Amino acid sequence: MTRIDIERLTVSYGAAAVIDGLSVEIPAGCFFTLLGPSGCGKTTLLRTIAGFAQATGGVLRFDGADMTHVPAHERGIGMVFQDYALFPDKTVFDNVAYGLRARKIDKKTIATKVGAYLERVGMGAYAARYPAALSGGQRQRVALARALVVEPRVLLMDEPLSNLDAKLRIQIRESIADLQREVGITTVFVTHDQEEALAVSDRIALMNRGRIEQLGAPEEIYGRPLTAYVADFIGAANLIDVTLVEAANAQGQARVRLQDVELLVAANGQGVGNSTCIAARPEDLRLAEAEARAANGVRGVVERRRYLGNRVTYRVKLANGQPITVDEPGRSGGRREGQTVTVMFDPAATMLVAR
Ligand SMILES: Nc1ncnc2c1ncn2[C@@H]1O[C@H](COP(=O)(O)OP(=O)(O)O)[C@@H](O)[C@H]1O
Ligand SMILES: [Mg+2]
Repeated sequence: MTRIDIERLTVSYGAAAVIDGLSVEIPAGCFFTLLGPSGCGKTTLLRTIAGFAQATGGVLRFDGADMTHVPAHERGIGMVFQDYALFPDKTVFDNVAYGLRARKIDKKTIATKVGAYLERVGMGAYAARYPAALSGGQRQRVALARALVVEPRVLLMDEPLSNLDAKLRIQIRESIADLQREVGITTVFVTHDQEEALAVSDRIALMNRGRIEQLGAPEEIYGRPLTAYVADFIGAANLIDVTLVEAANAQGQARVRLQDVELLVAANGQGVGNSTCIAARPEDLRLAEAEARAANGVRGVVERRRYLGNRVTYRVKLANGQPITVDEPGRSGGRREGQTVTVMFDPAATMLVAR
């Protein structure tokens, strides 16, 4: 298993730095995901790890060995692309055998290894087919076998599920995750899909304009976003401007003012003056009767109610005009449109974030 270290990496096209002094350590055997919106530099970073794009500054290491200027074919990487990139004129068997033949491995070993990897991805019965006669999901399974059969040090995948329909995406995603754990290979997986990232990753790096905005386990990224950008990109979040009244106390809670009330929120490690914004996920908010004398609540009017089967989602407008989305579980929601309510903020699940 290979550890990847990236130090102050810069990749520029002309004058523009697409990767901007990025540092990260990817532990050996980790399922590591680069997540972020289109254009933030995910593919560029992956191609630089692969050796298909050249760093203009910084260092890339595999297990401590400098790989920054090592040619792609000497890095020991396996790669899977969004568009499969199979050879259309070769059978499934020959596609998977390609890398082994290039390494002048003997025929018998090739037959054994190709057979074993095709079985592993559930494609053992398709060895004689051509890519044109396979579905998208089957093609991606073949591409995965082709990447893994040469036993690379690192597996790199660039949006491998993006061309598949919703159901297949989940199936192939689970196959990839199972296989990665079984083989134990260090994997860098690129996606713009937050649910995909949360489902399969050991660690997620959320990228923003060529930099890593936050790095952590799925639970940390979702549960403890440090910036408004992260809270907004992963899942849904209400981002509400507030005035900071009292910075973190001994319990790690801060006091903020919203309209005419003070709320207790998680200080979330934010320094004083760092933040005048709180994030609260719709499912962490509750609605109470307006008359209730509620601690940690703010009044508003229900503008819209939507019944979604397993939950009811409300849009509540505060007196200052700020809309708040609240998701209540259960099959029947008790609030009406036009009703004045109190939006209850859970002090543990509402947090200060940097803007
Ligand atoms: N070969 C290239 N030449 C010039 N600009 C590029 C090239 N490749 C990517 N870019 C630019 O770099 C930025 C990041 O692109 P990319 O890494 O493909 O992002 P992502 O994969 O996150 O969508 C984009 O603004 C893109 O236009
Ligand atoms: Mg891309």
